[in-house]
Amino acid sequence: MNKLFINELDLKGKKVFVRVDYNVPFDEQGNISDDARIRATLPTINYLLDEGAKIILASHLGRPGGKVSLEYSLKPVAKRLTRLLNKEVTLAKDCIGPDVRKLADAMQPEDILLLENLRFHKGERENDPEFAKELASLCDVMVQDAFGNCHRSHASMVGMNKEVPQSAAGFLVKREIDYFEKAVNAPSRPVVAIVGGAKVTDKIKIIENLVKKVDKIIIGGAMAFPFLAVHGYGVGKATIDENVAVKVLMINQLAKERGVKIYLPVDFVAAEKFDGNAETKLVTFQEVPDDWFALDIGPASTKLFSEAMQNAKTILWNGPMGAFEIDAFSRGTYAMVEAVVTAYALTIVGGGDTDLAFHRMGESYKVSFISTGGGAFLELLEGKELPGIAALTDKKES
Ligand code: 3PG
Repeated sequence: MNKLFINELDLKGKKVFVRVDYNVPFDEQGNISDDARIRATLPTINYLLDEGAKIILASHLGRPGGKVSLEYSLKPVAKRLTRLLNKEVTLAKDCIGPDVRKLADAMQPEDILLLENLRFHKGERENDPEFAKELASLCDVMVQDAFGNCHRSHASMVGMNKEVPQSAAGFLVKREIDYFEKAVNAPSRPVVAIVGGAKVTDKIKIIENLVKKVDKIIIGGAMAFPFLAVHGYGVGKATIDENVAVKVLMINQLAKERGVKIYLPVDFVAAEKFDGNAETKLVTFQEVPDDWFALDIGPASTKLFSEAMQNAKTILWNGPMGAFEIDAFSRGTYAMVEAVVTAYALTIVGGGDTDLAFHRMGESYKVSFISTGGGAFLELLEGKELPGIAALTDKKES
């Protein structure tokens, strides 16, 4: 990565603004249900503690629409962080204003201040220069560790960089980008990409980009339907977007020219209704009834896909193989989890629900890297530049 890294900053006694992504999920009782994004920032926080910095953490949580809302307070996050660090974390009542500045000015080395939700102010999402200036006025230097939000051009992601002398990547951001580079731009080959999920118009962009870079593409979930449809096969009740079908034809042509192999499901678990209690049957890909839904890949597909992965040196996976949130349609995705964790390859997983499948199987520790980014990871896969990374200070040529 050609951007300044945290270890190139002079941090001793400095007020360091660390943008983190603590946009974590909560259960019905209001408890944090997955703190992976909080844990993932500990290397950066611990490093700053070792360096004797004054640490000002800032994050968004949810989409409160520029208004203060208790529901979106970072209070539970401050509590969890205090426990994980075994060190007091002070939660400010706001993220800008005279009271926050007073708190920041009174900080001692190794103090940790967590600012309240940045999105309580409209200026964050609107990238308002005045709001960015206010944030910047709290610190001496900035560290970007909010990988999950790096696709957003918000004030704390791109605006305040112009107002601070230096902005550098933290450990989490660097790790995410390094793994991505290893998988896509400088990989050990063969590289196998697995793309699934339901958001077909978004996912097609990923396949359009990856077909130029990888050696094999395994396609599951609803994403497989337009690829089957262009060959004239029925896809049950799924509808096919014409623009997507046109892109599929282009992808097939490019795959042919580049020698990239595309693997599609050969059987499905079909159901009468999108419902876990509906009648289901296992059908070949030629036999999906017109008025049924194909909601998971079948055992012949998982065998085919597992064999296609056998010689892989790098595996990149985004998107489940079916409606795996419903037990009756989860086997295909879980079988692929097994295949991925037993492969002798660098394995990188991310975006949406894919990481959830690994967590549910208790297999996440067997993956080389699970991205903390949802939309940000997808945009990287689409080949886009992330504004939050582009805004960081360039590394000086030595
Ligand atoms: C995410 O969870 O993808 C990021 O925190 C960004 O959140 P947003 O989609 O609300 O901008």
